[in-house]
Amino acid sequence: MATRTPTRVPQKSPPSSFFQQPIHPGSAISANDFSVHEIRRILESSDALEKENPFRRADRLARRRVALLFYESSTRTRTSFELAAKGLGADTTLVSSLSSSIEKGESLKDTGITLKALGAECIILRSPYSGAPYLLAQTTGLPILNAGDGMAEHPSQALLDLRTILQFLEIPANKVSEKSLRGVTISIVGDILHSRVARSNALMLPKLGAKVILCGPPALLPETAAAIGPGIIIERDFETALRQSKIVMMLRIQAERLSGLEINLDDYRSRYQANSDRIAAHAPKALIMHPGPIIRGMEITADVADGPQSAIAQQVHNGVPIRMALLVRALVGAKKVGRR
Ligand code: CP
Repeated sequence: MATRTPTRVPQKSPPSSFFQQPIHPGSAISANDFSVHEIRRILESSDALEKENPFRRADRLARRRVALLFYESSTRTRTSFELAAKGLGADTTLVSSLSSSIEKGESLKDTGITLKALGAECIILRSPYSGAPYLLAQTTGLPILNAGDGMAEHPSQALLDLRTILQFLEIPANKVSEKSLRGVTISIVGDILHSRVARSNALMLPKLGAKVILCGPPALLPETAAAIGPGIIIERDFETALRQSKIVMMLRIQAERLSGLEINLDDYRSRYQANSDRIAAHAPKALIMHPGPIIRGMEITADVADGPQSAIAQQVHNGVPIRMALLVRALVGAKKVGRR
């Protein structure tokens, strides 16, 4: 009897999404993704794009497809990324956890693969899970812009905060260097433990020479936070921190992430609230910042939030030019945006 050669099942290549893909160089996932040179480029690009004629600007990303994937609520980040993309001529689509197949249990990976198959060329992701942007970047190979991941990072917020600080100090973007913020002390005050804004700022500001003071009670600011990076110290006494600071960033207590931590809010207010008496006594010339959303009467009083030292509205304003620069970097490349 003739022996039969076993039939070989043809081996199909696994789909490309099976493999981890390299992180796209246009991604912005951590403040550590940026060298000082790149920070300067992004700031210069944000200036150029802000000044550009809107009709010319709308050609830069004409018909490019940008997806906004938001698993958490957002006002400032979502709106400013969307306005930035639209101002550059891109087509945008919003996928939020409510009203999408995420509600039916679709994973981040499958959502990313789906968006890519629909033609998305860049995904802006907000997620409650720290590290989610890395997973999406490795799954899709697309440039991923981190719009806030859990308690980890919010790099575009750190860039717009930096733009606000440099405007206050009258330092032009083309002069940004490792020494630009030498001699400048910046206090970040409040719920550091849960704040991705604090982490990204604490990573970025010392790159430009700033001294960063983290200030808050032990429950919201563990001693280990000083290890985020070089140039960071912890100060428990708010008034001591204020007296040293040119810039004060207030943070909201993130009630949605407290998970079992009990904070005495009256005690917190009495020790850490930015109110007009305290600011007038200890930091009468400091710039007062807050990434928002602010809780008036808790970490900051209305007269300080709306007062002459407040940069809160300017921070929001700076969100659009910074995010335009990040989108151009993601979809066109890291070269400086110049005249065309
Ligand atoms: N600063 C910030 O991330 O605000 P939103 O949550 O409104 O986007």
